[in-house]
Amino acid sequence: MKYHIVTYGCQMNLHESEKIAGILRDKGYTEEGDIDEADIIVFNTCCIRENAENHAFGNIGALKRRKREKKDLIIAVGGCMAQEKGKAELIRQKFPFVDILFGTHNLGELGDLIDRKRAQKKRVFSLKEERGETEDGIVPVRTGYPGAWVNIMYGCNNFCSYCIVPYVRGRERSRSADDVVSEVRSLAAEGYKEITLLGQNVNSYRGEDGTTFPALLDRCGSVDGDFRLRFMTSHPKDFSEELVAVVKRHKKICNAIHLPVQSGSDRILSLMNRRYTREKYLSEIAMLRREIPDCAVTTDIIVGFPTETEEDFRDTLSLVKEAGFSSAFMFIYSPRTGTKAAAMEGQVEEEVAKDRLSRLIEAVNEQTRTISAGYVGKSCEILCEGFDGKKKLYLGRDEYGRMGYFASEKDRIGEFVTLKVERANGISLYGSIE
Ligand code: 5AD
Ligand code: SF4
Repeated sequence: MKYHIVTYGCQMNLHESEKIAGILRDKGYTEEGDIDEADIIVFNTCCIRENAENHAFGNIGALKRRKREKKDLIIAVGGCMAQEKGKAELIRQKFPFVDILFGTHNLGELGDLIDRKRAQKKRVFSLKEERGETEDGIVPVRTGYPGAWVNIMYGCNNFCSYCIVPYVRGRERSRSADDVVSEVRSLAAEGYKEITLLGQNVNSYRGEDGTTFPALLDRCGSVDGDFRLRFMTSHPKDFSEELVAVVKRHKKICNAIHLPVQSGSDRILSLMNRRYTREKYLSEIAMLRREIPDCAVTTDIIVGFPTETEEDFRDTLSLVKEAGFSSAFMFIYSPRTGTKAAAMEGQVEEEVAKDRLSRLIEAVNEQTRTISAGYVGKSCEILCEGFDGKKKLYLGRDEYGRMGYFASEKDRIGEFVTLKVERANGISLYGSIE
């Protein structure tokens, strides 16, 4: 019996798919790369923007024929879209060949749901409003070597007005600090070289005895072993000097911070319910650069939020320059039913939003190119992550997240290598290793 998992969305989802794989492995399934050969197909969905949903719908719909040909094929749909209000009903009606539906709060029950489906003809749709216990007991099938993800918390309490995450992932729940540290310790002992702590807003982490995120990070950074440590995502409203001091103190913790700003306009930030101003954000970046001058800062930006004017957008463009982002994830605002912003007046026309997005991408790319060009003639330490079959080159990232490519006779995956940078192309660096 073979499984195939299709994942949409963020690193949190990628890691949850590893847990889904863990459950399936325990039930005796093995992984199958070819979706057409699988006995069970699981879609782990995302609903952060409309196009993520459309993507999933398209791919689920494409299985209609496959199911007709292979009657005992099991198709399961889980994740954020499954948990979204009204979507289970829509999936039930639109895709009668979907056998199992589960949400973000009952991923741990997938094994039981499969048993139930096998024992009966009826479809098994199971959702929970809240997750009492977390899914810590599941042993994931890790797919990211030399990288590994560790959840430190689930859910979000922030209710940014555009965001559906708090509705589909529920309130914040932190894992125990001892559990997190012991998972990091075992991963380091198993030879993982890059460990990323994951949470929707890591700065609101609270461990069992009031452990704060900086304290947790300090403990993780003190674990023995030859590995790098990253964390995401931080919220600017809770960013602190204490956190920066921990990053500075530990060599293992990468000098790279992902700090989503979303907009450079105070008016829009307030409508977004972000609870910081442009000035506060920029003062945090200034503090960070004072303490750790080489720190790379990356961000997320939304354009076309309701009522965004050309002037608001220019504030975003100027902030990109002032903050000196080394790269950014950039999105067109997508209204999500049930969020506050979806009901706001002044939705921005698609053409206007598209134009802003392309101008923003150009501004960020220019910065990225300048930073990359500065690497030429210098050396950097790359953790080799894989082999690019098309380019026939090994690839990996440096501490700051920049991608480096090089040729090697020998398999280097999982090794730290020193790359002498010979040329730069956009965000990518090319060079040779000793
Ligand atoms: N539309 C566009 N982008 C969004 N994001 C979250 N919700 C939306 C939305 N409704 C972006 C934010 C967030 C990132 C993960 O996705 O920039 O930081
Ligand atoms: Fe969404 Fe805001 Fe929570 Fe991030 S902090 S998950 S953007 S509500």
